Amino acid sequence: MTYKLIDGKAISDSIKIEIKESVSALIREHSIKPGLTVILVGDDPASKVYVRNKRSSAMDAGMCSTIVNLPGSTTKTELLSEIEALNSDDNCHGILVQLPLPAHLDENEILASIDPDKDVDGLHPKNVGLLSMGSPRFVPATPSGIKEMLLRSNNDPKGKHVVILGRSNIVGKPLSNLLSLKDRGGDATVTLCHSRTNNLEEITRSADVLVAAIGIPHFVTQEMVSDGVVAIDVGVNRVEDNSRPRGYRLTGDIAFDEVSKKASAITPVPGGVGPMTIAMLLQNTLNAACRSI
Ligand code: GUN
Repeated sequence: MTYKLIDGKAISDSIKIEIKESVSALIREHSIKPGLTVILVGDDPASKVYVRNKRSSAMDAGMCSTIVNLPGSTTKTELLSEIEALNSDDNCHGILVQLPLPAHLDENEILASIDPDKDVDGLHPKNVGLLSMGSPRFVPATPSGIKEMLLRSNNDPKGKHVVILGRSNIVGKPLSNLLSLKDRGGDATVTLCHSRTNNLEEITRSADVLVAAIGIPHFVTQEMVSDGVVAIDVGVNRVEDNSRPRGYRLTGDIAFDEVSKKASAITPVPGGVGPMTIAMLLQNTLNAACRSI
């Protein structure tokens, strides 16, 4: 089977152009410049890269963007007071607390302290609830990016069996809600699998669309998929590679070389879901700024 590569970088570039035009119009017509603040606690190397990418993409789109760097020893009270200050700052339309947080901070408690109208990550309980009730406001960026890349690559999930590997709050759970919504880009029949799922291969082989978000390099092999599958790889795993100057390379949760032989369409890593996540974060920030008019 010849597969089609779903080029997340190219799709995200065209979305970013649309967003940049809307940002210019918002500035011109309403004197509102969308502002995104990203809070990073600690110095996890991968998180530092993600946060820098988010900021530079926001600036490229004509937005304001600030990174608040806090030491790994930051207390709950200190972090809550940073968030409180941003909640009442009219120039800040979107707040994102980069995850994971150091172990002494309770992620759910921190996320719940963000103003739900500035929660561009869609992880506040109010926004999680609205999505699961079928009236989404801010949808987490990775699920939103996956929906958008399926639509823009002519792989509408409507009526299809979508199998998701991984039940995280950031990807698996919100994606299962999003793709089963009665809406454009939804109407899928979703199965959410995880580490305790029985007969996993039987389920993944029945997938029209398979989304891997479990964080295990090359977990999905050719035996696990059927001919014609649309394979979406959310994994961003660092594996040691001494031939690279950095000493590692990024690889996905799907064994690309073998699964691509059976797939009708597949996303690469890097250059697939990752760039889509950033584009949808910018879209959420633009929406937050528009809601402030
Ligand atoms: N860490 C990895 N992905 C994400 C994300 O989408 N949002 C946040 N806040 N942290 C992350």
